[in-house]
Amino acid sequence: MLGLGTWNAQPGEVGAAVHAALRLGYRHIDCAAIYGNEAEIGTVLSAAIDEGVVTREQLWITSKLWNNAHAPEAVEPALKKTLADLRLDYLDLYLIHWPVAFRPGVLMPESAEDLIALEELPIAATWEALEATVEQGLCRHIGVSNFGAATLGALLDQARIRPAVNQIELHPYLQQSNMLSFCEARGVHLTGYAPLGSAGRPAFIRPSGEPVLLEDPTIHAIAGHRGITPAQVLLRWALQRRTAVIPKSVSPARLCENLAAAEGDLAAEDMEAIAALDRGRRYIDGSIWVKPGGPYTLESLWA
Ligand SMILES: NC(=O)c1ccc[n+]([C@@H]2O[C@H](COP(=O)([O-])OP(=O)(O)OC[C@H]3O[C@@H](n4cnc5c(N)ncnc54)[C@H](OP(=O)(O)O)[C@@H]3O)[C@@H](O)[C@H]2O)c1
Repeated sequence: MLGLGTWNAQPGEVGAAVHAALRLGYRHIDCAAIYGNEAEIGTVLSAAIDEGVVTREQLWITSKLWNNAHAPEAVEPALKKTLADLRLDYLDLYLIHWPVAFRPGVLMPESAEDLIALEELPIAATWEALEATVEQGLCRHIGVSNFGAATLGALLDQARIRPAVNQIELHPYLQQSNMLSFCEARGVHLTGYAPLGSAGRPAFIRPSGEPVLLEDPTIHAIAGHRGITPAQVLLRWALQRRTAVIPKSVSPARLCENLAAAEGDLAAEDMEAIAALDRGRRYIDGSIWVKPGGPYTLESLWA
């Protein structure tokens, strides 16, 4: 339920962070091909298993298919590259990173020409290729990320193997209660990303003057009452809503602080005070996929 995020954990520091996390007791590591650090994480996972810090069976390793590999014939090679980098025989969970498709070879789209509409390359076709990787034993579970209810509902209606997880942005400023109810009703587990407000993300997707979740006065007041830190309030809130949560840190002290958030509960009055903070604020809004003349809009993405 409480894992380690690895986005923006830099080469040279991500390995040490994962190693420290495993020694502290983290067992769930959230990775992705596009984070560019899976090979360094793989070295550490393999060493930790060899050293007897963990067994493979105790780990839950998630990774994600990047947007340039949605074509059915590209799925298995992309997964095999991730497995080779992570030095694993199988993943516990493989997610479609975004319901957005790029032309092969495009890492980040610069214009509409770099994008492919989902009408041309449907999610259902990508999903069938993911289903085949489960049957081959390359991953145990498959799921999605950044899917709105419309896209997820359509997939649930078509899938032979149901998506186990939707990984989405979740925190007190973006509570997504309708998505939570929808997923609970349809048997899809939610994992929340950016649980601390993603303050460390790159400047080109971080507008100046955005509200800083970790500085919220209500969160600070609850932290003061309970004798815990603001980050621990945010993580406990996520766990009490029965969502998994994957805070990123490369600092040993914060890794320890974040993991300790799993101990103890917030009171009902704390949960009520936090419920009132919802403001529909996305820190990662997908606007970098919206190009003039392109097939994606924010409305279609989050419908
Ligand atoms: N599926 C997707 O599209 C998607 C999108 C975004 C993120 N994710 C996943 O979700 C993970 C978490 O999201 P995120 O990395 O965007 O943001 P986040 O976990 O909300 O915030 C990470 C930032 O908070 C700092 N931090 C960590 N613990 C702290 C603490 N106890 N007190 C104060 N600051 C603290 C980190 O700095 P230090 O490292 O210096 O501690 C880092 O700058 C990612 O790493 C990634 O694995 C997935």
